[in-house]
Amino acid sequence: MWTRFSEKARRAIYYAQEEARRLGENVVGTEHLLLGLLHESDSIAIRVLENLGINPGSLRMEIERQLPKGEGPVGQEVQLTPRTKRAIDLAYEEARHLGNQHVGTEHLLLGLIREGEGLAGRILVKKGIQLEQARAVVKAVQSEGETPSAQVKSVPAEVLRGLKGRDLLSIDDLSREQCSALLQTAAAMKEATKSGQELIRWKRPHLLAMIFEKPSLRTRFTFEAAMVHMGGHAIYLSPNEIGLGKRESVADVARNLERWCQAIMARVFAHQTLVELAQHAGVPVINALSDLEHPCQALADFQTLMEHKGDPKGLHLVFVGDGNNVANSLALLSAKLGTHFTIACPPGYEPHEGILSRAREIATETGSLITVTHDPREAVRTADAIYTDVWASMGQEHEAEQRKQVFAPYQVNADLLKLAKPGAIVMHCLPAHRGEEITDEVIDGTQSVVFDQAENRLHAQKAVLAALIGDW
Ligand code: CP
Ligand code: NVA
Repeated sequence: MWTRFSEKARRAIYYAQEEARRLGENVVGTEHLLLGLLHESDSIAIRVLENLGINPGSLRMEIERQLPKGEGPVGQEVQLTPRTKRAIDLAYEEARHLGNQHVGTEHLLLGLIREGEGLAGRILVKKGIQLEQARAVVKAVQSEGETPSAQVKSVPAEVLRGLKGRDLLSIDDLSREQCSALLQTAAAMKEATKSGQELIRWKRPHLLAMIFEKPSLRTRFTFEAAMVHMGGHAIYLSPNEIGLGKRESVADVARNLERWCQAIMARVFAHQTLVELAQHAGVPVINALSDLEHPCQALADFQTLMEHKGDPKGLHLVFVGDGNNVANSLALLSAKLGTHFTIACPPGYEPHEGILSRAREIATETGSLITVTHDPREAVRTADAIYTDVWASMGQEHEAEQRKQVFAPYQVNADLLKLAKPGAIVMHCLPAHRGEEITDEVIDGTQSVVFDQAENRLHAQKAVLAALIGDW
């Protein structure tokens, strides 16, 4: 009889028997079957209940409240009551009616609703669930495919799907809605990961090529970890191995990689290299830092900012330091999300002109203010967050000594922090040159959120990978 049941439906019936035993009953009533169905957190039945506006946790409590108390633990095998048997027969009928080969948890749920007279049916009907409505929801959930778990419904799937196959070279490749959708997804993915689950898993093991022209700790680790968590794999390609543009042209590297993998991420010196990769690869290309932008960093940073300060609209992010890649992406993302952005930098070290004007153009739609100043002390007075980055970026090491002189007045230290709002947070993309752009006291202080930012690289990139690769 059970061969036509799905694995999860069989488990639900097993749990129903366990529930009856636990409650000291000799027979498995419909209420035990419903409790059994609630054991499987990612079953179709649970998704159907959630779509019907029923919280599985509260439903469980309600059933337990209404349960008749049994005599105590029983040893022998527990039998199904006639009503439970009828609900299972009806589940068969529902599966047949829907043209499904197997009886799944969703059919058992429909069987319980249709049976109607047992305790489970009565509770469900009392909650306003009607058979026709439940059947329609079952059909809708089934047509979504098998893989997405119940929680995937908590992400803006439609908006994310609009990003499938696209490149992420700049924050400006994303619409305002897509930025918000990625951040919402990143937060949901973090919550799931923390509770030991994975919100989005691919239907098959996708591959990510990771090209690095420069060193990395966070970017490399978190991209690779994200792929592994979501059921894929990442392959690291070091500068010496592939000699991008030297051993082989950028275009030919792209033409090879696209045959093997579903996405390429690259950390490069010249942003133009990314543009060329994207032109010649039929798979998404992700900027993992160039001389122009660091969009994945900015997404993780805003995830962090929102965790600590809530809605980014109207917040004031003050960047103190070099108007380089990180600052450029932050300016664009601030503009998109309605966050006021100020950079306090030495003259000559302002953000990229084109990016600044684009950020200002976007800001006219969102109401944020994008300003450049050379006075860090004035800039931080209204700051909700103070951000800094190294004074000499990777590739600028030969300028390090000269830059130390120029940037000395721009150090984020306790004196500067005192001028900001008392609750202001301190941010840094890392790696930090302690004692230069930021002091130990500040980076290790209570207002610092730098390791939250590092942590969020994982979750923000999961959202990016899920959106660009799709297939979940
Ligand atoms: N913030 C950042 O991108 O760190 P890595 O250089 O270590 O990847
Ligand atoms: N601006 C820095 C960021 C490092 C993550 C650099 O390009 O080296």
